[in-house]
Amino acid sequence: MLYCFSAFLLFCIYVEKLISRIVYLRFCITTFLLISKRVILCFCFSITFDSSSRWSSQPASTPDLNPAPTMSKVISFATQKGGSGKSTLALVLAAPLATEYGLRIAVLDCDYQQSIVKTREQVDAANFAKLREANPDAQYPYDVYPWQLNRIFDFIDNPEHNYDLIIIDVPGRADGDDVFNALTACDAVIVPLVSDYLDRASTAEFMTILEAIKKAADDAQIDFQYYGLPTKRVAGQREEKEMDDYIDGLGLSRFNSYLGHRKAYTRASTLYSLLNPAWARYAGGTKDTSDEIRRVCEELIERLGLPDRRATAGASVSTASTSAK
Ligand SMILES: Nc1ncnc2c1ncn2[C@@H]1O[C@H](COP(=O)(O)OP(=O)(O)OP(=O)(O)O)[C@@H](O)[C@H]1O
Ligand SMILES: [Mg+2]
Repeated sequence: MLYCFSAFLLFCIYVEKLISRIVYLRFCITTFLLISKRVILCFCFSITFDSSSRWSSQPASTPDLNPAPTMSKVISFATQKGGSGKSTLALVLAAPLATEYGLRIAVLDCDYQQSIVKTREQVDAANFAKLREANPDAQYPYDVYPWQLNRIFDFIDNPEHNYDLIIIDVPGRADGDDVFNALTACDAVIVPLVSDYLDRASTAEFMTILEAIKKAADDAQIDFQYYGLPTKRVAGQREEKEMDDYIDGLGLSRFNSYLGHRKAYTRASTLYSLLNPAWARYAGGTKDTSDEIRRVCEELIERLGLPDRRATAGASVSTASTSAK
C-alpha cells in the first residue's frame, strides 16, 4: 500500500514538472515569436516600405524623410479583432469633436462593410432632409468619404483637404500590407480595449506590433503614437481593472478615459452629436454618457495636440461640412 502511494506521489511530481516545462516552453516560444516579429517589422519598415507611404522607402537616417506637408492629424481606430467597436468609436466621437470642439473633420470609411457611410446614407438621410426643410443652409457636421485603403495618401496629401482631423475607419483584420500601410499614415492609432479574457492577448499582441512601429518611427523621427482606449466597459466588473493592469504591465500606452457599454452609443449619428441634449434624450443617453464622451474627446484633443475651439465651435461647424460624399 505504502509502495503504491509512493509510486503515485512520484508520478504526480513527474506530471507537475512536465506541465511546468510545457508552460515554460510555451512562454519561451511566444516571447521568441513576439521579438522576431518586432525585428522583422523594424527591418521591413526601414528598407521595403511601400513608396506611397509617408514613411517612404529611404533609410531611417535620411534627413528629408518627413511626411508630405499637411496640417491635418490623422488617426485610425484599429485592431485585428472584428466587432470591437472601432466604427462605433469613430461615430460617437466625430460629431461631438466637430460640433462642440469645432474641429474640421473628415472620416474615411475604408471598411468594405461601409458602416459609417451607411449610417449617413441610410439612417441619417431622412433627418437631414427634415433639417434642410427647416434650414436650407444646414450641413452635416463633418464629411464622410467611402475610400479605398490603398489610396489613403491621395486624400491626406491633397492640399485642398483642409481638415484638423482625418479619421480612418479600417477593416477588422491585420493581415496583408494594406492595413499596416494605412496605419503608417496615422499620427495616432487608437486600439479599442474590450475587457474580455479571450481577446486580451490578441489585443495586446496588436498593440505590441504598434509599439514596434512606434520604435521604428521614433528612430526615423516621425511622429507616431498609439493608445488603447477602453470601450464597452461595464461598471464594477473586475475584468476592467485586470485589462488595464495587463496593458500597463506590458508597458503599452492607454487612455485614462473610456466609453461604457451603452445602448446610446449604438445609436450614434453622423448628423447629431450625442452631446446635443435633444438627440441624447432620443438615443437614450444620460449625463454619464455626455461626461464620458467629453472626457474621451478632451483626452484625444490633448494627446494629439489638436486645436480646441470650444469658444467658436458654432462658427467653425458650418465651414467644416462642405459635402457628404
Ligand atoms: N460602447 C458600446 N456600447 C454598446 N455597444 C457597442 C459599443 N461599441 C460597439 N458596440 C456594438 O458592438 C458591435 C460592433 O461594433 P462596431 O461595428 O463598431 O465594431 P467594429 O470593430 O467596427 O467591427 P468590424 O471589425 O466588423 O468593423 C455593434 O453592434 C455596436 O453597436
Ligand atoms: Mg467597423
